[in-house]
Amino acid sequence: MVNAPLTADDNVIDYLAAHERKGLLRFITCGSVDDGKSTLIGRLLYDSKLLYDDQIAALESDTKKHGTQGEKIDFALLVDGLAAEREQGITIDVAYRFFSTEKRKFIVADTPGHEQYTRNMATGASTADLAVILIDARKGILTQTRRHSFIVSLLGIRNVILAINKMDLVGYDEEVFRKIEDDYRAFAKPLGFETIAAIPLSALEGDNITTRSRKTPWYDGAAILPFLETVNVRSDLAEKPFRLPVQWVNRPDLDFRGFSGTIASGAVKPGDEIVVLPSAKRSRVARIVTMDGDLSEAGPDMAVTITLEDEIDISRGDVICAGQAPAEQTDQFAAHLLWMAEDKLFPGRQYLLKTANRIVPATVTELKHKINVNTLEHMSGKTLELNEVGYCNLNLAQPIAFDSYEDNRRTGAFVLIDKRSNTTIGAGMIDFSLRRAQNVHWQDLDVNKKARASAKHQRPCVLWFTGLSGSGKSTVANLVEKRLHDLGRHTYTLDGDNVRHGLNKDLGFTDADRVENIRRVGETARLMADAGLITLVSFISPFQSERRMARELMPEGEFIEVFISTPLEVCEQRDVKGLYAKARRGEIKNFTGIDSAYEPPQNAEIDVDTSDIPAADAADRIVEFLQGNGYLEG
Ligand code: ADX
Repeated sequence: MVNAPLTADDNVIDYLAAHERKGLLRFITCGSVDDGKSTLIGRLLYDSKLLYDDQIAALESDTKKHGTQGEKIDFALLVDGLAAEREQGITIDVAYRFFSTEKRKFIVADTPGHEQYTRNMATGASTADLAVILIDARKGILTQTRRHSFIVSLLGIRNVILAINKMDLVGYDEEVFRKIEDDYRAFAKPLGFETIAAIPLSALEGDNITTRSRKTPWYDGAAILPFLETVNVRSDLAEKPFRLPVQWVNRPDLDFRGFSGTIASGAVKPGDEIVVLPSAKRSRVARIVTMDGDLSEAGPDMAVTITLEDEIDISRGDVICAGQAPAEQTDQFAAHLLWMAEDKLFPGRQYLLKTANRIVPATVTELKHKINVNTLEHMSGKTLELNEVGYCNLNLAQPIAFDSYEDNRRTGAFVLIDKRSNTTIGAGMIDFSLRRAQNVHWQDLDVNKKARASAKHQRPCVLWFTGLSGSGKSTVANLVEKRLHDLGRHTYTLDGDNVRHGLNKDLGFTDADRVENIRRVGETARLMADAGLITLVSFISPFQSERRMARELMPEGEFIEVFISTPLEVCEQRDVKGLYAKARRGEIKNFTGIDSAYEPPQNAEIDVDTSDIPAADAADRIVEFLQGNGYLEG
């Protein structure tokens, strides 16, 4: 924490109170060390006397030891040496620095400027109200300037300072400055910034930092610090419609029922009409309760408990909204997605989507286009890789309450979480709900799964065979189906090679295509079981995520995973179709076990290795499993 030093005769209480009342400006600095970013931040702190004497003494001595600026103080050393606050969770590479002046408190999000750190920039930008985009006056607008500006605009920042630095190295030439400013305004037009303030600077020499520099008489705007102190970017969350995601229902006794959470946006007073989503029940606010007594009003970021005039059912995860301006609800929407993981995004794979108040299973149903963050061009693509941005349609297992990100940065944002590792892998900004979601309803049919199953006198289930090519999946599945058929059971087998001749003939063998292959087959198997059939599925199905998704489509106990665990060496030796030989010669790409991954099951119900036992014995074991566990009764 860096603050103006206190003198002995300051009244500490008054000082702190005045401090508390000051407005807060959160901003992000974008640029690289070469642009003078650390020097600028260091200079802001130094010139506005925000440092303690001992910090200045240390800086002077560090400069002598390590500085690169001769006799001048090296401000970059100061910033690099300051203890940095780090946000937990998504990223560890955003440094938040706190400082304050007489007029304002500031939180600066400082992020590394290299390309691979797009996600860090996004993290810093998501809570900022203004961005300082640094430009080296000698170089003008670079690819990274465009990238930073795009991400900043995507994350909802509407106010930009174009800090044209190193003016000393271009002789404080107005023409250089104007040209860069004009170029930038032309480039940034489609990004929708409300204000762009270009300021000529020399962070090193201290020009236009705290006061206007005599060396730029042609510049009639403010120096950067006074600008930051007065710029009007009041976060408009307070003016947005009221949203309270309910974190818990507070019910200490039968007479009190309060709904607690942190207000995401808007203001609330007793007497206000509210509507609760998803139930759409209406009531009025009775009280706003806090530890220190009731409030007559509350606003964004306040943790409150509210009570209502009517007894209505509300649970954790619901959103209490302004009665006249509720959020929307949907289970399908279009959104921008910024990918943050080494593992690629696969449309069709199931992830968890987390909003301010809820976590629901979600899949990207379509990647409409990728956006080149350097040129803003749209490109087609099947996946997103680390740091890429795409525009997608998403489908959720249950509806959520939301606002579009443009209307509300709190209730329009989400993250995607990987189900297996539980880590954040993407950040999204909701654009709009897809209308088709509201127009497609589930149709209940009188002849249902139970009726169809009982007509066949059997219990439907899915027997899911997974394993390498040549492991014996299809051979064993075929034998199992024959035995079940002989026992009078109604069955169907979905085989990889066969389904790829029809339903899935548009799919190849990239990871993305295999994900979609298995998603479709999982859905088909569910339909077959719904038809009352004992369904056998024989696909390599190399990824745990999709096998798990197929399992989760079925009721508990109706999905039986059969791992044909024959080792690669044996499969390759058999090479019934000659494909391993081709793969080894490089004639087939992405061959499972050779240059494409296979993730073995962790908890398969049955595990058989056809190099240990003959296929007929393997089939017997599977049929015995079905008999032993009651699957063939009925
Ligand atoms: S999966 O990985 O998407 O589940 P699937 O079971 O549908 O694969 O298809 C596998 C079959 O396709 C193999 O048995 C083999 O005959 C054939 N095949 C052709 N190319 C490949 C490849 N690159 N990798 C694996 N199998 C391939």
